[in-house]
Amino acid sequence: MALLKIARMGHPVLVRRAEEVADPTARDVRRLIEDMVETVEDAQGVGLAAPQVHIGRRIIIFKAPPGRAGDDDAKGVTPLTALINPVIELLSDEMEDGFEGCLSIPGLTGVVPRFSRILYRGLSPNGDTIEREATGFHARVVQHETDHLDGILYTMRMRDLRLLSFTDELRRRASADDDDDDAEEGEDEE
Ligand code: NI
Repeated sequence: MALLKIARMGHPVLVRRAEEVADPTARDVRRLIEDMVETVEDAQGVGLAAPQVHIGRRIIIFKAPPGRAGDDDAKGVTPLTALINPVIELLSDEMEDGFEGCLSIPGLTGVVPRFSRILYRGLSPNGDTIEREATGFHARVVQHETDHLDGILYTMRMRDLRLLSFTDELRRRASADDDDDDAEEGEDEE
């Protein structure tokens, strides 16, 4: 196991389409996923896509912890999951705004619209099919990570760049307002 170096915005691997994985059970895929898990946990992030560690392959990991604002059902929560060759199907056209951060764009957070209900499908490292419905934060993190596989960063999805902030600036203002909900939301990095 090893900590991997995280690519930052400006590196070309982050704006390229990643390649499908032919054999999800291959040894190098398993090792990459183990290293990605170690790396995201070390960085205290909630998700990571292979291009963020300089590997242009369609592999993501993510989790949606319980107790997040707006997530009122089980579909909003998921343990740490590795997904290979993920695809997303929309279950509704409805979108919702929420704060996002990204380990490849450290120190910043922004408000991003995402579809609120999706079905996602992909392969586990054992080669089994994973298919789940997701809502709220769970749906958001999967859309964020899958976007990385198509060379899309969250800032490219923003509709209002005035809502792009330094996380510590937002936190400072929020604590001054005695209302730190927004800043807490902005702390997760994907
Ligand atoms: Ni990200």
